Amino acid sequence: MTTVLVSTIAELRAATGALLAEKLPGSGHPGTLGLVPTMGGLHAGHAELARAAVAENAVVVASVFVNPLQFGDPEDLARYPRTMEADLALLSAAGVDLLFAPSAAEMYPDGEPAVWIRAGVLGGLYEGASRPGHFDGVLTVVAKLLHAALPGSGLVADGTGRAPYRAYFGQKDAQQLALVRRMVADLNFPVDIVEVPTVRDPDGLALSSRNRFLSAPERDAALVLWRALRLLGRRADAHEPLDIPSAEALVRSAPGVELDYLEVVDPETLQIRAENCQDTPFTGAAVALIAAKVGPVRLIDNVNLG
Ligand code: PAF
Repeated sequence: MTTVLVSTIAELRAATGALLAEKLPGSGHPGTLGLVPTMGGLHAGHAELARAAVAENAVVVASVFVNPLQFGDPEDLARYPRTMEADLALLSAAGVDLLFAPSAAEMYPDGEPAVWIRAGVLGGLYEGASRPGHFDGVLTVVAKLLHAALPGSGLVADGTGRAPYRAYFGQKDAQQLALVRRMVADLNFPVDIVEVPTVRDPDGLALSSRNRFLSAPERDAALVLWRALRLLGRRADAHEPLDIPSAEALVRSAPGVELDYLEVVDPETLQIRAENCQDTPFTGAAVALIAAKVGPVRLIDNVNLG
């Protein structure tokens, strides 16, 4: 199928409304809409998000918008990959109905918005500590995209008990996912947030649009992130103490890798889990979050423990 490209909110709403009405009678999932928000530079991880959305919705919209509000560093914004043709091909192959690719003027007609969503305390931790304001920008654009894609009519509950409007986010950006979930719960957005597992290269490197900026030796060195997470995963599975310092030492031993943080946190609140992590046997559930600079590229990854 060919994904149809739309660039204005008015076109998007008209097209989703028409598609929902058209697919209503024969569809296996009458009246459900899936949104896959992205910034483009799409890879197999995004294809997995799209496939998850296509599998359980009548109509699927993906968005590609490189959101200036979430970049502190103008150079980072300028070098973010823009690969629209390839993105459209990937989305078509995954069966996505519509691609919403707005201009900055369409999303922010008055320039920087006067009112933002603030990510609060959780937004200042981990990624937020080294990228101040990043999650305010993410939540502000996600709120706008969720509203932009919400059709005026045609959404129908499908008997699963879930909202008929769903949005798909990767587990790889665990802090982003937790914050989007909090925003949706705290501000009563009528949308079900769906987590899609991280996609990895066969050697374990988590797919990211930033991986293209790694040289071959940097890419080899970057594999230490997954090795450290797996080490913690094995200890958690065996209910051993996690001994986080030894995992940190492993990361620091890799050439050109500058560890930013390695934290074991509660999966929902993302608060650091002090108990059962260092010297006592691991029990319960947690997420290990890691971030490191490998050469010029900042990478993040995570793994569920327990
Ligand atoms: O994860 C991303 O690609 C972006 O942060 C998102 C959610 C599309 C918002 O710009």
